[in-house]
Amino acid sequence: MEAFQRWINDPGVRKFMTGFTPIGLQEEEEWIDGLGKRKNNITFAIETLEGELIGNIGLHGIDWVARVATTGALIGDEQNRGKGYGTDAKMILLDYAFHTLNLRKVCSEAIAYNGRSLAFNARCGYKEEGRRKDHFFKDGQYYDGVLTAVFREEWLPLWQEYNL
Ligand SMILES: CC(C)(COP(=O)(O)OP(=O)(O)OC[C@H]1O[C@@H](n2cnc3c(N)ncnc32)[C@H](O)[C@@H]1OP(=O)(O)O)[C@@H](O)C(=O)NCCC(=O)NCCS
Repeated sequence: MEAFQRWINDPGVRKFMTGFTPIGLQEEEEWIDGLGKRKNNITFAIETLEGELIGNIGLHGIDWVARVATTGALIGDEQNRGKGYGTDAKMILLDYAFHTLNLRKVCSEAIAYNGRSLAFNARCGYKEEGRRKDHFFKDGQYYDGVLTAVFREEWLPLWQEYNL
């Protein structure tokens, strides 16, 4: 729990997140305690095969009628990024979204300079659907939001080839 709070307040993480307020420990605890009660948000911890906690990933704003959700992911320490953990976690999350929850489409939004997020989502089959012009304000400047999404049918062939 302390790790989640430390990561979400780390400037190296925050510059990529769409939220802007710092999160206190109590607020983080309340968020974690409330996870089980939220029907439209499902969040998982990400662990290595050795059991080390390295991040979290979730489905948010689940629309059970349209069968659409939005993903968010975070690998906390820079040394663990760019090693394929995010892609593995996202592919497993999409398997859960499409094959357990029977969702149809999963979306994401990244700040335009977040090349790593766009790259790992592209590997999981996400395609750009549009841009929100000058939508985020970070470090004194406005940046576009890039909206991407993947449909179950587009993801399925990738999943069949994916070797975890
Ligand atoms: C985004 C994030 C979850 C991705 O997880 P990850 O484990 O780092 O991702 P992976 O290692 O699986 O894949 C990263 C991809 O980005 C590429 N990449 C790495 N650094 C990059 C950079 N600076 N710019 C563009 N692409 C980059 C890698 O080559 C890889 O693509 P490839 O597999 O096609 O070669 C993770 O980096 C993270 O937590 N970042 C900070 C928080 C964040 O941005 N969250 C998402 C908000 S939308």
